[in-house]
Amino acid sequence: MVTARKEAAIAMRKTDVVIEVLDARVPLSSLNPVFEELRRENQRAALKILNKSDMADPERTQLWLSHYNAQPGVKAVALSAKHPKAVRRIPDYAKALAPTRNSPLKPLRMMILGIPNVGKSTLMNALLQRVVTKVGDEPAVTKMHHRHELGRGMWLTDTPGMLWPGIGHEVGLKLAATHSIGRNAYDNVEVAAALGAYLLEQYPALLTQRFGSFAETHDGHRLLEAVAQNRGFIMKGGAPDLERAARIFLGEFRDGTLGKITLETPADTAAAADDAEA
Ligand code: G4P
Repeated sequence: MVTARKEAAIAMRKTDVVIEVLDARVPLSSLNPVFEELRRENQRAALKILNKSDMADPERTQLWLSHYNAQPGVKAVALSAKHPKAVRRIPDYAKALAPTRNSPLKPLRMMILGIPNVGKSTLMNALLQRVVTKVGDEPAVTKMHHRHELGRGMWLTDTPGMLWPGIGHEVGLKLAATHSIGRNAYDNVEVAAALGAYLLEQYPALLTQRFGSFAETHDGHRLLEAVAQNRGFIMKGGAPDLERAARIFLGEFRDGTLGKITLETPADTAAAADDAEA
């Protein structure tokens, strides 16, 4: 991370607009705070892309767009990288953030950032209209950044999808739910139970629709037990198979089967910041 930060700091100095690809289901938790701090220090404009908005709660996406669009030097848009037409508007948004950078002599220099699994590669492929190898994925590459010409007088520097050290527990659980943190780092049952508890509170109707009624429980483990019963995941001896229920539950959240869900709002992140300061 130290090397990555150094490389990003160098690249950022030669950047006009930083494109931050976020997961619209966790628009704050998927923002790498190390790179965000670097961007602010360098006073670079940001284009925040709330990707996967097809799977996010549309009302909450609007709240997040208003929240980010109120920040100076920031433009936020929601889209799905799987819809190339929406992706092709990105250069225009970036140009509007750096209007003086508009010629081969003064090219618009963009840098794209995103933690793993936010859809950065899908977006890059749609943007460049060809398949781009993930940076950092090729064996024996020493260079961490790749530069692509995006059009006349427009350059885009790609960076590897990276997490940051010391991710907090709450954020970690959300990023594990959205699969930005690998399956080996977290316990499926813990992640699914935390997700379940949140959904019982915030999206009870979606759960009822999918798994039947849950008699007023706010307990994520109870929910997993009910999912196991509902699907007939019972172990020898009769106990519910929570691990299997957790995998199914997480899978259905991740692929959007449970519905359009967002795991945070600008209001509750402001409340969390107040708590941390108190
Ligand atoms: P990354 O480079 O940021 O790590 O992410 P990548 O593009 O590899 O995308 C991660 C997964 O998210 C892929 O699914 C991709 O298809 C999916 N994805 C990316 N953008 C969107 C979006 O806007 N909406 C939805 N619904 N999905 C998106 P996968 O299951 O790994 O592969 P695939 O079978 O879908 O190709």
